[in-house]
Amino acid sequence: MRVGLLTGGGDVPGLNAAIRAVVKRGEGEYGHQIVGFRNGWRGVVDGDVLPLSRQHIRNVLPVGGTLLGTARFHPHASDGGIDAVLATLEAERLEALICIGGDGTLHAASKIAEAGVKIVAIPKTIDNDVWGTDQSIGFDTAVTVATEAVDRIHTTAESHNRVMIVEVMGRHAGWIAATAGIAGGAEIVLAPEAPFDIEKIEKFLKHRHRAHASFSIVVVAEGAVPAEGTAMHYETQVGKFGEIVAGAIGERLKAEIEKRTGFDTRVTVLGHVQRGGTPTPTDRILGSRFGVAAIDAVTQGRSSVMTALRGDRVELVPLAEVAGKVKHVPAELLQVASALA
Ligand code: F6P
Repeated sequence: MRVGLLTGGGDVPGLNAAIRAVVKRGEGEYGHQIVGFRNGWRGVVDGDVLPLSRQHIRNVLPVGGTLLGTARFHPHASDGGIDAVLATLEAERLEALICIGGDGTLHAASKIAEAGVKIVAIPKTIDNDVWGTDQSIGFDTAVTVATEAVDRIHTTAESHNRVMIVEVMGRHAGWIAATAGIAGGAEIVLAPEAPFDIEKIEKFLKHRHRAHASFSIVVVAEGAVPAEGTAMHYETQVGKFGEIVAGAIGERLKAEIEKRTGFDTRVTVLGHVQRGGTPTPTDRILGSRFGVAAIDAVTQGRSSVMTALRGDRVELVPLAEVAGKVKHVPAELLQVASALA
């Protein structure tokens, strides 16, 4: 059997573990030929293939990024994109496609599946916001990196008596902010799920610095927003397509906090540091489990499904149920963060 494989959207640590598992089990156990596509859906449209064998996956387990390359490109959104995908799959005589990606890639996968292609998807995103799975590949590494950063910022915050804002990734969901905030002992955690009240933040910081501490750590997700009607002195910065600009909310908060409290404040935008480097053991294990489950599913003739972690088990969930939905941070997790402030 010839099976296609691609990684789409933003890269994450742990992708190579999933690729390795698909190739190792697909070739070794089932005798399949695994045909990789370079740079996500772009490679499928362009017919840019990389036939994968054992030599490609040697020593890749601890390596971040993706050996296939990736791109933010969606075939259903470009003219003739779906036809080009179908033509490539036919030319390559592929019976099924394994797509590893986040919301955008999975949405594209569901469109291609509707056109009759057998697809098995694997969820990855440091944001952990893919619906239907308890965890996505890459999230654990991002939280580990962000927590280490908060720990490091703690000591300099205390030494200088400053308010330190740490901006983490998470456009639509605040999983990294909530978990790294709790693990790092942040005083304030701000996530897109709970629009913030700047006056409450002002009061909290003034009280804390008057009563018992001279420093504070604020962890903010890049997609966090002020509550409607909140009087802020500084406007949100959006890009030319209306998207959130990395660093914008951190800088905006710094300006507000300094103006309102007079406290010396600094911002650290962690950015792509959260997506780079060596995957944690948890991400290597999750990538390996999802890779094995995906190639097993393909071999059993399953299609239009996504591998998902449910409790301690890996299961298959219908792709149509997950594509296009955001898995938000539950109120309980945010309450733990604020309860421990
Ligand atoms: O989708 C994952 C993510 O890392 C988001 O958290 C972040 O907003 C975005 O990608 C950044 O995208 P890019 O790498 O294209 O700038």
